[in-house]
Order: sequence, then C-alpha cells, then structure tokens
Amino acid sequence: MLKNYWYAVEFGEAVKDTPTQVRVFDQDLVLYRDSRGQVVCHSDICIHRGGSLAGGRVKDDCVVCPYHGWEFDSSGACRKIPANREGLPVPKKARVDTYPVVERYGYVFVFLGDLPEAERPPIPVLPLLEPVTEARATDNRIITGEFHWNANYERVIENGVDAAHAPFVHSTSFGNPDKPVIEDFELHETMVGDHLTSALYTVFLEPPDPKGIWKVIAKKNAERPPIETGNGIFFPNVTFLQVKLPLGTMTLFTAVVPVDEHHSISKWTMCRDFFTQPWAVTLLRADKDSRKRTMKIFYEDQPTVEGQRPELIPFDLSAELQVKSDAVQLSYRRWRQAAIDRGWGIDEHLVADRRYEGARVIPSPTRREHPELANAWVLKEMEAKEGRRARARAQQPPAQPTQPGRPQGAAQ
Ligand code: FES
Ligand SMILES: [Fe+2]
Repeated sequence: MLKNYWYAVEFGEAVKDTPTQVRVFDQDLVLYRDSRGQVVCHSDICIHRGGSLAGGRVKDDCVVCPYHGWEFDSSGACRKIPANREGLPVPKKARVDTYPVVERYGYVFVFLGDLPEAERPPIPVLPLLEPVTEARATDNRIITGEFHWNANYERVIENGVDAAHAPFVHSTSFGNPDKPVIEDFELHETMVGDHLTSALYTVFLEPPDPKGIWKVIAKKNAERPPIETGNGIFFPNVTFLQVKLPLGTMTLFTAVVPVDEHHSISKWTMCRDFFTQPWAVTLLRADKDSRKRTMKIFYEDQPTVEGQRPELIPFDLSAELQVKSDAVQLSYRRWRQAAIDRGWGIDEHLVADRRYEGARVIPSPTRREHPELANAWVLKEMEAKEGRRARARAQQPPAQPTQPGRPQGAAQ
C-alpha cells in the first residue's frame, strides 16, 4: 500500500451520526459524523482490548467503545474510562490513531498517513464536479452506485483507464471489435508542486454497429463519427471516463476503494447532461437505464480483471509488456514507484493482520506532530518500506563539514 495520500473511501451520504466501519488496505476504520456535521475517522481497533469502535455509538461527539464504554473524542484521545473511579486520570496512552478527513465531490477523502498538513499531496481537482460535500455538477443529473470486485484495487484502476480493452471486453456494449486500433494520443499529466495529481488522455473510439431498436432508428448508411472519449486517473484512486455521445455527455468518476489485497469496491458517480428534465417518470426511467448500463460495463470487466495473474501488479516495469496504448498505466506504475522511492510504500505483508497478534496501524499525523506522545501509542505503526531515495541516502558517505576559507580536511 501507499501511505500519505488522500483516499476517497466512502460516499459522504453513507456516513451518519452512528459509527460505520470501512476497511481500507485491510485496516478497519470507523467513520462518524459529529454534531457539526464533520466526518471523523479513527482506527477501528480499541486500544483497550481490541474492540471494534464501529460497533459502538456516538455520545457528545465521542465514539463509545461497545465493550467497556471508553469514550474517544475527535482527536482520538480517550476522555472517559467508565470503570475507573471518579478522579482517576485517563492515561496518556489511551488514544487511537485519527486520520484527517475532507468531504468533497460527494466522497469522504481520508488522509492515510503521517505527513504534516503543509507537505501533503493535494486532493485532485475533479473536473465538472463542484467541490462541495454533496456530488453536484451544473446542468447534470447524478446517480451513484457501487460494484464489488474479488480483485486488487490496482488491477481495477488499470482496467478503468484502459481504452484498448473496450473492443474486446465490451464488444457487446460500447466497444467495436472490428475497429480496435487506438490512435496515438497525448497523455496530460498535471503536477501540483512536486506531486503528480492526474494523468488524462482523449481518444476517438469507433462506435459499435447499432443493435436492436437503435438499428431500426439509425438511418441506413448514416455516418457515425468516432466518439470522443476522455479517460485517466486522479491519483491515488479515482478513475475518470467521459464519453461524448450524440445524445450528450456522460462522465463517470470511480473511487476504487482498496479493501484488502484481494478485494476492492468501485464507488461510482455518473453524471449525464441529457434527460435531466424534472418530469419524474422520465427522469427515473433514465436513471434506471443509466444505472443498468454502468453496472453492465463492470459486469463485463469482472471475469477479465478477477482472472488476471499475478493478482497484484508487478513492481518491475518489464514484468509485463508495455505498448504505446498503455501510456496511462505506465504513468500509474511510475507514480507508484516514485511514491515508494519517497518512502511512502508499506509492504503488503506488513499491513496489519488484525486477527492474530501484532496488529499494526497506518501511522496518523498526530504521531509526528506531537513528539511528546512518542510513547503514547499502544499499537505499533506500519513502517514504510525503504524506497530507492532512502537507500541512496543511506549509502552516501556522510558529508564533510566545511568552513569558509579553510581547505577541506585541514586541522581545526
Ligand atoms: S475494548 Fe474498547 S473499551 Fe474495552
Ligand atoms: Fe472496461
């Protein structure tokens, strides 16, 4: 896994004022909404006896563990241990890791890592969607849904940004098996500071021959121009697909939630700028149709993605063959390697095995921001695997201190 990124992990509307559990990178997190409407995210392992806070309740903006009733506030500090007699102080160690949360574009973005605020990569700017807590796009109708995969999230992400598979995997929907060529395209990578935030491209895909009712409606021999299709990724886990149909534009954002190594959930937001009129029946019918078509695409992808081996995408770029049309996947793999080189990768096998001894947690910013709490953590943090940069630094001979006007190595 990669730490130190903002992951979209849940729809905002799914988080209420009762605790709910989400699993990300095999870590259980608890989310709840406080009295100001702010979403709070803690590690879901109670440091007393490992109870799941998500099974508890919210009281005075604290989450109350269902086992012995310890109350943890929004900073993760325990405020009350009911079994202790009045006046006994709550130990400093009674705290859980808390992760920063931003609600935007209809999603809950959680910062999984320990970087201080000023150094964090930004949440990418999603085009079309307004940066408000609910999903909103002017003049568009929005529907949302989710799809569960028995596959690693990175395989799902790569599938979502891959235009070349459409003629084969989606030959019965939008792909045209007779015209599989992907013309050369330019990949647009956006940097904010020294962080890559998106990699997007546009291609023109040949539409399939009309079928069923469309075949009847379509004028014989009528020219059907290629369909402008935008595709790509907003790092770390939101994919983008925009299709400009003759009827209007459909834009699909998909947050791919990395549940664990072998499972992921696509939480999708579909925007369409046609059939948006408020006549309920038409609208609901169009919504139903939109949902059916979106889910059909995922169902078509499912056997291919779940059948890929190895299940995790290799770290060595030469372990799978890259061709020209794979530019965006290559960008993803390079971005991932760059993050590991920064020391932000955590070995998959280090990810907490919460079922046995030695549960570990993704380190939260409080661990770095409050050195006085250095010994206050009951659960060990998952350490970053050593990146290339860190290794190179370690191999460099220590720099010799120099003084102006004095030759190096001269007697002090
Ligand atoms: S396990 Fe949470 S209070 Fe005891
Ligand atoms: Fe697909």
